[in-house]
Amino acid sequence: MAEGDKVKVHKERKKITTKTLVTMKERGEKITALTAYDYLMARYLDEAGIDFILVGDSLGNVIQGNATTLTVTLDEIIYHAKIVKKAVKTALLVVDLPFMSYHVDLRESVRNCGRVMKETGADAVKLEGGERIAEVVKHLVKVGIPVMGHLGLTPQSINIFGTYVTRGTDPKEARMIQKDAKILQDAGCFGVVLEKIPATLAKKVTASLKIPTIGIGAGVNCDGQILVTHDMLGMTEMFHPRFVRKYLNIAEQSKNAFKNYIKDVKHKKFPNKSESY
Ligand code: KIV
Repeated sequence: MAEGDKVKVHKERKKITTKTLVTMKERGEKITALTAYDYLMARYLDEAGIDFILVGDSLGNVIQGNATTLTVTLDEIIYHAKIVKKAVKTALLVVDLPFMSYHVDLRESVRNCGRVMKETGADAVKLEGGERIAEVVKHLVKVGIPVMGHLGLTPQSINIFGTYVTRGTDPKEARMIQKDAKILQDAGCFGVVLEKIPATLAKKVTASLKIPTIGIGAGVNCDGQILVTHDMLGMTEMFHPRFVRKYLNIAEQSKNAFKNYIKDVKHKKFPNKSESY
């Protein structure tokens, strides 16, 4: 270290809670979020200082290789959330409730959400939908389970939408998204994800709410941003929506590393003396 260099003391960060996110909105401080499904990735995210980690049902796509998120089960999401939880010290840990785990009736929905909270140690759950899920949200909040909403392109409804196009582009659907956002806030949600809607609509929704909006493909005016980690690391080669910014190209780098390893082993270049006993 050169003389005069200041030693940077890393201040220990305080645990992020649902209340912290609301305070961040009030202060105009942007909220950062990414997904994790395993211990190491969760550890890297937490150590990097991410505000919240989502164990998303996108694990159906990026971990299980399925075309949709619909096949993810409650037991599967609990399995992944449990191992993510081991690595998370500071970030808020939010877990997606899978398709059909909060749709049958209130009792079953509360029981399933309760299982997620008790078995994983997560801080909150995320549910897709607006008015349709308002009663469930109210019951969950009543028993002490914090809920994040999710509006716009809700992947669990893909078979109704039929396509992954931008939602809320026509005035009727835009009005519905605005109304649903208010309904979720009134039902007790502490935040809401806005997925793939016009930036102008997301800005209006954000301005109309006291709770933070977390955008994915919803423009810069949301209170925070979330991406699927595998997309932003360039691991998912087959998926290129314009809202994903690739910060690495791990697919290409990994394949190059694997090719080099194969070459080294074939040519007896690995292991060398210092790598042997
Ligand atoms: O499942 C998921 O990863 C999500 C994010 C895309 C918001 O819901």
